[in-house]
Amino acid sequence: MILRDVTDADLPIFFEHQRDPEAQRMAAFPAREHDAFMTHWRTRVLIPENVTRTIVVDGRVVGYVGSWGQDGRRFVAYWVGREHWGKGMATQALSKFLEHERVRPLHAWVAVHNTGSIRVLEKCGFRKEAHENPPGEDGVEEVLMSLESSPRGENNPR
Ligand SMILES: CC(C)(COP(=O)(O)OP(=O)(O)OC[C@H]1O[C@@H](n2cnc3c(N)ncnc32)[C@H](O)[C@@H]1OP(=O)(O)O)[C@@H](O)C(=O)NCCC(=O)NCCS
Repeated sequence: MILRDVTDADLPIFFEHQRDPEAQRMAAFPAREHDAFMTHWRTRVLIPENVTRTIVVDGRVVGYVGSWGQDGRRFVAYWVGREHWGKGMATQALSKFLEHERVRPLHAWVAVHNTGSIRVLEKCGFRKEAHENPPGEDGVEEVLMSLESSPRGENNPR
C-alpha cells in the first residue's frame, strides 16, 4: 500500500465510492450529486490547509484518507470502496497517514452505529472522548474519538 497525492483522475472513483448506499448508511453521510461532489473536492478538500492522500494498493485506487482543521481542532476522515472492505485497508491506511500527520490531539466524529470505523480508529490508538447528546439535527448520534500524543510520542497501534 502507498499513500500519494490525489489526482483529478481519482475523483470519479471517490465519487462512486460515496454513492454506495451501504457506505452512506455507515457514514451517515448523504451522497453528493456529481457536480456538487467535484466542486466540493476541488474547492474545499484539495486545498493547502488540508492533507488528503489517495490509498493505492497493487496499483489500484481503493480510497482516501485525509485531515482538516475545524473550530480550532484537527480531524481525520477516510473512505474505502466497498469492494475492498474487510481486508484491513482502512486500518493500514490510517496508520500510515498518522506517521505523516503529526498534529495531536487528532479527532474524528463517527456515527455510533459505524462499528467498523470506530474499530479502525481504536486500532490506531483513538479513544472515545464524548458523545453528541442529544443527536444533531440530522438525528444521527455521533461519538467524538480522539488520538492524544502518547508519552513516547507514538500512536500505539495495536
Ligand atoms: C469503515 C471503513 C473505513 C472500514 O474499512 P475496512 O478497510 O473494511 O476496515 P478494516 O478492514 O481495516 O477493519 C478494521 C476493523 O473493523 C472491523 N470492521 C470493518 N467493517 C466492519 C463492519 N461493517 N462491521 C463491524 N466491524 C467492521 C474489522 O473486522 C476490523 O476489526 P478486527 O481487526 O477487530 O477484526 C469502510 O467500511 C468505509 O469506508 N465505509 C464507508 C465510509 C465510512 O464509514 N468512513 C468513515 C467515516 S467516520
